[in-house]
Amino acid sequence: MASTPTTGSPSSGKSPAARPKITINGVVREFTPGEMILQVANAGGVDIPQYCYHDGLSIVASCRICLAEVWAPNPRNNNALEPLMGGKLMPTCQTACTDGMVVYTDSPKSVANQKAVMEYLLINHPLDCPVCDQAGECTLQDFSYEYGRGVSRFEEQKVKQPKKDLGTHVYLYSDRCIMCTRCVRFTREVSGTSELLVAGRGNKEEIDVFPGIALDNELSANVVDLCPVGALLDKDFLFAQRVWFLKSTPSIDGITASGDNIFIEHNEGRVYRIKPRTNAAVNKWWITDEVRYGWKHVQSEARLRSPMRRMHGVLAESDYSRAYDDAIAGIDGAVRNGKRLAVVVSPMLSCEEAYLLGTLARAIDPKAVLAIGPVPVKGEDKTFPPGDANGFRMYAEKAPNARGVRRVLEAIGGSGSVQSYEQLLKTLGHGTGASDVGAVLLTGNYPSAWATDELMGALGGKFVTLIDTLGSSLVDAAGVVLPGATWMEKAGSFENARNMIQHFEQAIPVVEMAKSEGQIAMDLAAHREGKRAAAYNAAETRRAMAAAHATLSVFITDVSMPMTGSLAEADMQVVEL
Ligand code: SF4
Ligand code: FES
Repeated sequence: MASTPTTGSPSSGKSPAARPKITINGVVREFTPGEMILQVANAGGVDIPQYCYHDGLSIVASCRICLAEVWAPNPRNNNALEPLMGGKLMPTCQTACTDGMVVYTDSPKSVANQKAVMEYLLINHPLDCPVCDQAGECTLQDFSYEYGRGVSRFEEQKVKQPKKDLGTHVYLYSDRCIMCTRCVRFTREVSGTSELLVAGRGNKEEIDVFPGIALDNELSANVVDLCPVGALLDKDFLFAQRVWFLKSTPSIDGITASGDNIFIEHNEGRVYRIKPRTNAAVNKWWITDEVRYGWKHVQSEARLRSPMRRMHGVLAESDYSRAYDDAIAGIDGAVRNGKRLAVVVSPMLSCEEAYLLGTLARAIDPKAVLAIGPVPVKGEDKTFPPGDANGFRMYAEKAPNARGVRRVLEAIGGSGSVQSYEQLLKTLGHGTGASDVGAVLLTGNYPSAWATDELMGALGGKFVTLIDTLGSSLVDAAGVVLPGATWMEKAGSFENARNMIQHFEQAIPVVEMAKSEGQIAMDLAAHREGKRAAAYNAAETRRAMAAAHATLSVFITDVSMPMTGSLAEADMQVVEL
């Protein structure tokens, strides 16, 4: 323990600019009035054990592991440092900082409390870490090593509690629960659905759902992330993978307009789960179940895996070179015959890919139609808790980059030049049969089949080059099919519904022969000129975009890069024996 100073040094009286300070285990930290000791410690990298506290929930100070010895200057005694509350240990999560305060979580009294709390929490906790999904990311395990006694004095029978199926996505293994109540508070304070409660008293206390009501709200699986132990488990991830094998790549929601910050967790090219990545300006600490589980098309059996070209009326697998030859011949032929090219850029694609596709289109045909693919909308926007305009927002728009695609295509084609999907259908002759378009370069990348009857009808008689990820009826209408890459398989940037442009990284390799749409656009441009394309690089493309169009300079100045400081690193170190 650091030596206890005899007088405090409140900084507020000395300089109007000086911020108040607190000393935690000898580390001096500035704070904003109103902040709790634990919040300042967490922000400043000072370790204090904690279970019930969470930045996004109310403070209940119930687990008692964060208690510490706190001293504060007494203005009635010449600012001499005196123990707060007569020397009682204080919950650092619920005690506001004051200037000159000195906190010890490493004093004998604090350490004794930590050991006592750990011993108490472990009394009824089963020793099933080897089969528990939380092992490796469990704070009960971690704090047991760091702050626990190392031995148990408990010789009685542990209380056995049941496993429960709480709802669509979540199991509860009750006997692992340490009653931090984070999950209960989440359903009351964030989702606003209040399905969970604490039932019973003493060592019979357990988490439960109200009779007949399942944990089935749109944010339900966030309770799994909140649970500090392995009590609440994700059905989708159950026994799927040991967490220490997972690599975490920072990314952005690729299926809705939210731009929610996520980690894609994967191993050997397979994705196992999605976790929220904290961003106070976007998704706070949460993601919807839709974002968490809506990525399964990435690993679908229906993925397009190889280029195809139509020969004698039949589509057959091909290499890229011949598929590119056919695509270019078909498009150039239509333009030579006085017809226009229409390029349909899906709102599922990145800004960089929209730029490369739009530039390619105008290089082939200066009068090319630039259009944005259909932007799916489901229901209405919702906020959580309901009615809280500053709460977590779930977007009805189910595409990640409609704004970014439009922004980029308008920079290439001019303001007002970009056709919506409805306008495109008319341009292609839907309803009239008359169209000056002879070739269509069509991109998809939606999580499910997206072709409408109107589109299928309007494509008739035109040369179609399809770049898509999933097999569909569109494949049958195409002259050339090129397999695209989902957002997990490439880097880029999306502009979300808040008009924030955010970069995402490639998490896993592309499936088989698929390529990012950006690479395909570069390949086609180079192939036309008999050259070999460079490798697609999102950052370089953004620089080129900003250099070519003043209106795209935001892609240099305003792209949020993922903060990777919080990337999960393996705790284990290999040591020589
Ligand atoms: S189930 Fe998990 S989150 Fe809920 S009270 Fe128990 S330990 Fe806390
Ligand atoms: S984290 Fe402070 S009492 Fe639980």
